[in-house]
Amino acid sequence: MITVETVADLRHSVSGWRAEGKRVALVPTMGNLHEGHLDLVRKARSLADRVVVSIFVNPLQFGEGEDFSSYPRTLIDDSDKLSGVGTDLLFTPTVTEMYHRPQAQQTKVEVPGLSSLFCGASRPGHFAGVATVVCKLFNMAQPDIALFGEKDYQQLMVIRQMVQDLSLPIEIQGLPTVREVDGLARSSRNGYLTDAERSIAPALYKQLQRSAQALQKGNYDITALEQQAMIRLESEGFRPDYYAIRKAEDLAKPGPEDRALVILAAAYLGKARLIDNIQITLE
Ligand code: PAJ
Repeated sequence: MITVETVADLRHSVSGWRAEGKRVALVPTMGNLHEGHLDLVRKARSLADRVVVSIFVNPLQFGEGEDFSSYPRTLIDDSDKLSGVGTDLLFTPTVTEMYHRPQAQQTKVEVPGLSSLFCGASRPGHFAGVATVVCKLFNMAQPDIALFGEKDYQQLMVIRQMVQDLSLPIEIQGLPTVREVDGLARSSRNGYLTDAERSIAPALYKQLQRSAQALQKGNYDITALEQQAMIRLESEGFRPDYYAIRKAEDLAKPGPEDRALVILAAAYLGKARLIDNIQITLE
């Protein structure tokens, strides 16, 4: 595995591979890698000839007062993990390599509609920051395929819409959420949890499963299910941000005829903001 910090070095490697007719995959990350990330890399390995992973804690997608400066940076450890799963190139740009201008003057990619819901409503500007950095990484690495986790369901939808709207010649592959044995979705932010909070944390996914079961059993009172879930999460020690049962394809409110649904949730537990979701197809 080679590690490069500059766009010029990244382009040099990738253009060599492209000239040889190799298929290139990109896995964008912010580092502090866990099994969720490594699953994406393993899948990339099976779908392409060359695998590029980026590690970049993107300031543009963090709001004021969020955890940009405290976000875990564990490059040496990450680098070991990546070489163990067959990464060909690790791209670790600095902030100045990625952004030449102050944030306010930076050209941004806005994906309207989707970006203002749920996580976008709680974190204004977040999805423009994500879409912008992912678009830049696509232009830098020129991958044939890029892989993302369904754990960040709304992010995956934003990226799919950006690719469609901007006619980017890149296939987007989503992968299922990797969980701890107790159901907690793997996340770099789980490290913020105290021992006591860590023991509460799996209740978020348990609640998603409970709502999914209720829907499967024919309880279709969406508003009541959402409200009950918020109350239950609060009683368990979370500070719920949103809990929403939506159509899987466009996150619109479902009607009785809709079968493919997703339940999206975000909740604070101490310093950590946890997000999770569950997809269901009603019989
Ligand atoms: P990060 O949180 O590091 O996640 C990188 C990729 O790993 C994303 O596609 C995310 O959905 C996926 N991922 C995280 N936890 C996962 C889990 N438990 N199971 C499966 N996949 C998981 O998401 C970002 O970084 C950034 O927003 C980024 C796309 C890199 C843009 O800066």
